[in-house]
Amino acid sequence: MGDEASYDLSRRVEGLRSSAIREILRVVNRPDVISFAGGLPAPELFPTELLGRLSLELLQSREAPQALQYGETEGVPALRQRILQRVPFVPGSFGLEGALVTQGSQQGLDLVTKLFVDPGDEVLVETPAYVGALQAFRFFGARVTFLPCDAEGVLPGALAEALRRRPKLVYLTPTFQNPSGLCYGEARRAEVAEVLRGSTTLLLEDDPYREIWFDAAPPAPIAGRVDPARAVYMGSFSKTAVPGLRIGFLLGPPALVRRLVLAKQATDLHTNTLGQHLLLRLLSEPAFEEHVAGLRRIYRARRDALHGALERQLAGRLTWQRPGGGMFLWARLSGGGDAARLLERALAQGLAFVPGGEFHAEGQGRDTLRLNFSFSGEEKLEEGVRRLERALEGFAG
Ligand SMILES: Cc1ncc(COP(=O)(O)O)c(C=O)c1O
Repeated sequence: MGDEASYDLSRRVEGLRSSAIREILRVVNRPDVISFAGGLPAPELFPTELLGRLSLELLQSREAPQALQYGETEGVPALRQRILQRVPFVPGSFGLEGALVTQGSQQGLDLVTKLFVDPGDEVLVETPAYVGALQAFRFFGARVTFLPCDAEGVLPGALAEALRRRPKLVYLTPTFQNPSGLCYGEARRAEVAEVLRGSTTLLLEDDPYREIWFDAAPPAPIAGRVDPARAVYMGSFSKTAVPGLRIGFLLGPPALVRRLVLAKQATDLHTNTLGQHLLLRLLSEPAFEEHVAGLRRIYRARRDALHGALERQLAGRLTWQRPGGGMFLWARLSGGGDAARLLERALAQGLAFVPGGEFHAEGQGRDTLRLNFSFSGEEKLEEGVRRLERALEGFAG
């Protein structure tokens, strides 16, 4: 009895597939498996004690009834103010009416796609691109076009040419991208902004890793350099605070945000109020900035451990660029080959990673792999590379 036969589903969900990442994550709960697969922050670094104290204070304060009540769809006003103070834009670039608190930045992707994309509409993305965004675009029937990138980011010429077709959206993650770790330099950001200024297509800039930098703070977002009527910028507290709160935000032109608010109302009325009040308190603590600085320090050491082990053991077999921030190192099999087949061998050695094909157009990028370094300590990262080396022994591709 197939499930498929039992339900008269909408056309929208025909062909909906579970992502390979979710499938891999099922296996990696085995205690003997080292996981470079997920995109998870390190749980031992969560500000658990601080959140415990702040939760108690919140629930014992005069704000408690408000924090437990229904709230505005736009989000708690004081949190929206605080977000505007934290974002890397010239003060006043985005007003309060242009700020929406979302259920993680993933919801921002869903809402913007819902608003813009009819089946068959074109959406431009980078090669490779974040799987969660691809899922949202495909869910609404978008025709996704992958644009070529070099070590500095998307190629401005290819972007300009694609924009002539007037696609609905261009989705960019210029800062420590998931999966590639790539961060556009200042010059490429300026070039891309210049190309976008000549177009009416909406830029959707996704920036959840901005604060997780290791060597130097990243250049300012592209969204602040284009026509403000044509840009939406998304951020998240999943990587700096905790993902379980599910709080992200979206900044955009007020006329657009008003429509996004209607779409959000139909979905969930508003983002959870208790979490928003708690986050507001967390952001007001001086200890929070120390916490973020600590994340940078520890993730940097993990990046170095992974990069160093790869250099010592696998320099001939893989090529990669050392990421300057974020949570991922992106590698390519030097002699080509299928990383999905390598994954089977790696799992037999007790190591999981994500084969890069997931982040590409069908059939592309098979020789790439995404290695996460935020979730494992330095020793595990080194042991993981030893397992990868064993998996590669005699691997013909
Ligand atoms: C590029 C990118 N965008 C969005 C998200 C979703 O984050 P959240 O919904 O937790 O804010 C992620 C999570 O890994 C991501 O890597």
